[in-house]
Amino acid sequence: MEAIDVLLTRRSVVVANQIGPGPDDAALEKILRAATRVPDHGKLAPWRIQILRDQGQAALGDLLARLFVAQYPQANDKQIAFERQRPQRAPLLLVVATRLRHDHKIPVMEQMLSGGAVCMSLLIAAQALGYCGQWLTEWPAYRPEVARFLGHDPETDKIIGFLYLGSRAEAPEDRPRPDLAEIVSEWSGPVGADTVERV
Ligand SMILES: Cc1cc2nc3c(=O)[nH]c(=O)nc-3n(C[C@H](O)[C@H](O)[C@H](O)COP(=O)(O)O)c2cc1C
Repeated sequence: MEAIDVLLTRRSVVVANQIGPGPDDAALEKILRAATRVPDHGKLAPWRIQILRDQGQAALGDLLARLFVAQYPQANDKQIAFERQRPQRAPLLLVVATRLRHDHKIPVMEQMLSGGAVCMSLLIAAQALGYCGQWLTEWPAYRPEVARFLGHDPETDKIIGFLYLGSRAEAPEDRPRPDLAEIVSEWSGPVGADTVERV
């Protein structure tokens, strides 16, 4: 498939519709190489990617179940089991975090955006190789306990994506996309004679 067709047909596959196999080692390496070629102002590589397979996914699930019970002591067994299962909903889980350099001249926002590009490229590369993925954050991305558990410093390392990768159980239906006319416009200069004075 042409690269443009991969982009024009890109769709996330929700974790509920993901099955095995996940990317094998050779495919995963290609996905990671593709995803770390993103634009990166200052060549900071301000992102980290962790690969969680069965054991890592289970360990993270145990933590999520514990955190959930601590927050909701009345939680029932089904809810707790769901939280334990959360990181295990796809064959492979990639955790993407930005490792931000607050002391650097490159604005933190640009470092974050570069991390977003990593996540997006992971999805595209996975789809290009015949796999599927979904980029989720959900509540665990925003809990410092989760970042610490994964070995991150929550001050500088922000979890920006849990990338669930697998194979699709069925082709997802397309969903409506934004009308280009609403979000794209031509701009060829300020309108009105006094606009420059008003800036
Ligand atoms: C940063 C980010 C975080 C997201 N987190 C969630 C999430 O927590 N839960 C969710 O249902 N979708 C989340 N999404 C949306 C899905 O990744 C996906 O875009 C959505 O299922 C629509 O599918 P599509 O990518 O084919 O348009 C997130 C998207 C982004 C960019």
